[in-house]
Amino acid sequence: MNLIQVPTYADLSRVAADLICTAVAHNPRSAIVVATGDTPMGAYVELAQRHALGQFDSAHLRVFQLDAYWGLPPDDARSLYGWMWRSFLQPLHISDAQVTRLKGDAADPAAVCAAYDAAVAQVAGFDVSILGLGPNGHLGFNEPPSPADAPTRMVNLTEASIASNARYWGGREHVPPQALTCGMAPLLAAKQTLLLVSGARKRHILQQTLSGPITPEVPASLLRLANHVTVIADQAALGG
Ligand code: GLP
Repeated sequence: MNLIQVPTYADLSRVAADLICTAVAHNPRSAIVVATGDTPMGAYVELAQRHALGQFDSAHLRVFQLDAYWGLPPDDARSLYGWMWRSFLQPLHISDAQVTRLKGDAADPAAVCAAYDAAVAQVAGFDVSILGLGPNGHLGFNEPPSPADAPTRMVNLTEASIASNARYWGGREHVPPQALTCGMAPLLAAKQTLLLVSGARKRHILQQTLSGPITPEVPASLLRLANHVTVIADQAALGG
């Protein structure tokens, strides 16, 4: 696991965008799984600016949704697909045909998850995985405990995740209790992972991720078993 320490969130966003651009320049058909949450938003703005300048070609990317609240139609403001569309797909002019969704409003969640894992296998795994760090160590919605072989599946959100996501939606009563998440297995098999971590509230869980026990109780710690993982963390998250 490689750690890039940067002074500020702006630096984190720029460095993340640089690494994504390099990977996509190397392989324009990259299969890329894309987190929502606040942390990667600055990197996505950077990518959109570079795209507008003709410096980032998104035309051949294969994009995968990382997670979805269960039971929400895509036009619900809380839908993570909607968030991904506003922050990543639409600014980068990525078409529906390039996107593999996790449909939170499908009739059969098990079938959606199995189809998703089959689609990941079809592209021979993710080339690039862009992740944020949940305050309890979750990746996507792989809540603790999540073993390394966990497939894409439906999960019950922990109280910690409901509380931390309440800030996006104006109160914990608005946070759906279940979600679909890309599994640990496809995430750990990614050829390159960028874990973006910003802010003092992530300090403790970042320390556990980097140097605590490698355990399903801190799913992000399992990234230490994976290949080509880069953690980009700002000074506030690193402390000191
Ligand atoms: C959320 C999402 C994750 C996200 C993480 C961190 O619960 N399920 O995909 O990466 O928590 O979010 P943030 O970047 O806003 O701290």
